[in-house]
Amino acid sequence: MQLFVDTADLTEIREAASWGVISGVTTNPTLLAKSFSGKDVSIKAVIQEICGLVDGPISMEVTSPDAEGMIGEGREFATWHPNVYVKIPFGIEGMKAVRALTDEGINTNVTLVFSANQALLAANAGATFISSFVGRVDDVGYDGIGIIEQVVNLMSLHQFDSLVLAASIRHPLHVTQSAEVGADIATIPFKVLKQMYFHPLTESGIASFNADAAKLQAVAV
Ligand code: E4P
Repeated sequence: MQLFVDTADLTEIREAASWGVISGVTTNPTLLAKSFSGKDVSIKAVIQEICGLVDGPISMEVTSPDAEGMIGEGREFATWHPNVYVKIPFGIEGMKAVRALTDEGINTNVTLVFSANQALLAANAGATFISSFVGRVDDVGYDGIGIIEQVVNLMSLHQFDSLVLAASIRHPLHVTQSAEVGADIATIPFKVLKQMYFHPLTESGIASFNADAAKLQAVAV
């Protein structure tokens, strides 16, 4: 399973990229607003900078209410950099846009998918990535990982090309579980990505090895 970072914060993306484990970035309007609201920056320049930091799919979301507007935005985003994937909210208008952009050879990431049937529709529209949300499903009392598993099985059973992207990840266990049920990609908030490195036994193990290494310095190596 590939690991993407789910943020528009350039400092976080730069640091995550330096760790050598990230192969893509997902943004959405909320993440972009969190980092750039009120700042005099061009979103195109931000996305291009992200493309320079991570050599892999970089998702940029459309906000038009209809297919025509989404297709126009998608065509424009695709000119920014070859790695830009056009992120499109699930819906009738959205799937019309996915079909049109797919037919033009533009990569898409269908977002806000919460059910197996929505995933089937997105796959039939030609989606490159299907972002099935985990945390938001759990929040309303259903099983987000269970839906990822269902979608993964359907894509495989019916031999769709779409890749399943586990989104709305809230904690490290969501990442493990997404991998266990066969998600192709998990997009992970920077904080959760950092938490994945931590294990108390690794920390105490390093401390005790370092203490013993200090004793060795007293003797000839
Ligand atoms: C993915 O690209 C989604 O936009 C993102 O994972 C949503 O996460 P949230 O539910 O924490 O907002």
